[in-house]
Amino acid sequence: MTIKAASVPIGVFDSGVGGLTVVSAIRRALPGQPIIYFGDTARVPYGNKSARIVERYSLEIASFLVSRGVRFLVVACNTSSSLALAALEAKYSALPILGMIGPGARAAVEATANNRIGIIGTRATVQSGAYDKEVRRLSPRAEVFSRACPLFVPLVEEGWANERVAEEVAARYLEPLLEEGIDTLILGCTHYPVLAPVISKVAGPSVTLISSSEAAAGELASRLGGGGAQTGERGELRCFVTDAGTYFKEVAERILGEPLASLEAIDEERLVAQ
Ligand code: DGL
Repeated sequence: MTIKAASVPIGVFDSGVGGLTVVSAIRRALPGQPIIYFGDTARVPYGNKSARIVERYSLEIASFLVSRGVRFLVVACNTSSSLALAALEAKYSALPILGMIGPGARAAVEATANNRIGIIGTRATVQSGAYDKEVRRLSPRAEVFSRACPLFVPLVEEGWANERVAEEVAARYLEPLLEEGIDTLILGCTHYPVLAPVISKVAGPSVTLISSSEAAAGELASRLGGGGAQTGERGELRCFVTDAGTYFKEVAERILGEPLASLEAIDEERLVAQ
């Protein structure tokens, strides 16, 4: 019996719950595609860790997902995409791998009219310069302005993405970028698409927001040829975490917009032993 490619799961991983914005975008683009999601909730956040640690954690998670037979790996975490993509590609050269940086940068370069592009993300993502390098590689004339926005992640997880406090924080973070006259802003972190309404209100209509989650889901759909979308059935979503903690499910379902049918905790030591 031949197995239809669309029935083989893809692996998606993140430092925690935020990567479900990418899963949500993938499920809109490819509703029939089965997905195995891995959130490293015991070791989150990655956004303030060193490249060496983020690379090690990312390789451990990839090894777990590969052992589950995934046919494609999506690095939903922007910090891992910035710091660990090269190591993942070197180790799993036979596996197609998609990070967030390429799709986000490509969408921004296509969207900008004045070549002034803003990038927001975790401290580690911004310090790595990964988005800046990719944007400049694609468009040498582009000018890039970046800023880390560490308070955005807890605001989203607290469910305050549409509160006044989120607007005040966004105004403070975005001010220097807006002063530079950017016309395009890359939301270079898993959680930030949830804040898009508030960011858009602060940035105003002249700034186009680029969700790296949406951009990556679009690229994934074209690379998989839309196969998963044609099965008619909703693909299974299995979630693994390193610690289910007290509030993963609640935040996950809010971000995903659907109930989590399958959630399993994997002991961190088992992950390391893969
Ligand atoms: N998932 C991370 C990212 O997209 C944000 C949360 C963290 O710092 O781990 O960069």
